[in-house]
Amino acid sequence: MKDLLIETASGSYPVSVGRNIIDTKLLGKISELKPSSILIIADAAVQTLYGEQLLQALRKSYKTEVYVLPSGEEHKSFESFYDIQTYALKLGLDRKSLILAFGGGVIGDLAGFVAATYMRGIPFIQLPTTLLAHDSAVGGKVAINHPEGKNMIGAFYQPAGVIYDLAFLSTLPRNELRSGFAEVIKHGLIGNIDLFKQLAAGIYNLDDIDDEKLQHMIIEGIRVKAAVVKEDEKETGVRAHLNFGHTLGHAIEAEAGYGKISHGDGVAIGMLFAIWLSEKVNKKDLHYEKIKKWFKGLGFPIGVPHSLPTESLIIRMLKDKKSHSGTITMVLLNAIGEAGTSSFESDQLRSLLEKWRQEGSD
Ligand code: NAD
Ligand code: GLY
Repeated sequence: MKDLLIETASGSYPVSVGRNIIDTKLLGKISELKPSSILIIADAAVQTLYGEQLLQALRKSYKTEVYVLPSGEEHKSFESFYDIQTYALKLGLDRKSLILAFGGGVIGDLAGFVAATYMRGIPFIQLPTTLLAHDSAVGGKVAINHPEGKNMIGAFYQPAGVIYDLAFLSTLPRNELRSGFAEVIKHGLIGNIDLFKQLAAGIYNLDDIDDEKLQHMIIEGIRVKAAVVKEDEKETGVRAHLNFGHTLGHAIEAEAGYGKISHGDGVAIGMLFAIWLSEKVNKKDLHYEKIKKWFKGLGFPIGVPHSLPTESLIIRMLKDKKSHSGTITMVLLNAIGEAGTSSFESDQLRSLLEKWRQEGSD
């Protein structure tokens, strides 16, 4: 078991990573908060697998109710947000109530945004159940999607704690393990060259991720994120680096239709384009071809689906939160383990994206 401390300008909180730690760590954290009642917001698949166990543990000491959200990115929506707020109001949750986000990044982002806004803010705890959530559960970005763009409506709102019980990850479908692995690779590429080298040298397919490697990559990924968030909680500068691969990745997810391409697969495609672009702009060899081959072996898509027009993606990238005054800001690599940002005129980026696609990124 490992405890890490996330320090931000608006407060600090612990992240506990280990196996079978719900009974000790979660109940310990809740007893510190002394909530008047608890609302679990649970992913439907997670609820079926683990919900009863959690509910029984909590109901011994607390008034606890559950809202079950159907699984899938398409439910990280305004409609779900509104339904949960209605449910909470009808239950009579008050300002001393506590929300538990029980699921992956969809639940963490949505439940966190509900917590941030219910009666102007009540505490919440993240109980992540996916590998990807080593990223999403830490750092306090909470949001819902809009058909016009990913995570466009949200807040910076830190959880009271994160209890990461690795026992839940044993049932994670393979494609979701891959999706989460993309964010681990991202953390290596932007902030920890040793982590990146370990991953690239030791994991050729997803079966190579044993329990020890899983725990190690989660902890190291969180350390990279924690360092960035400590310096820049609200993304006025360096936090943008955490968006590596996301400018194109988010555009692909939204253009394909939420839930059609997993977040991690979108980010993997976005990272490949960003590495290719970094080589061109920074005139460095960043081993693009080798990384592309590695991604392909891991099962990631390595190019934008043919059905998505470049022009539509550029229009979406112009609406990215990093974009301004008609230019698109991309996070690029100065070196493996070191990121920076560069802005492009939309015409220029359109040509570059088109060139990358024509060069055979499929
Ligand atoms: P997800 O929450 O949709 O979970 C993926 C799938 O796995 C779902 O179908 C779910 O039912 C299933 N699942 C979850 N846990 C399971 C388990 N233990 N066993 C079996 N099945 C399980 O997706 P995700 O990949 O965890 O998160 C993606 C979301 O996270 C995106 O919306 C993305 O925008 C967001 N995100 C947010 C941040 C942030 O900083 N807030 C960072 C990265 C990503
Ligand atoms: N995943 C982007 C961020 O947390 O800032």
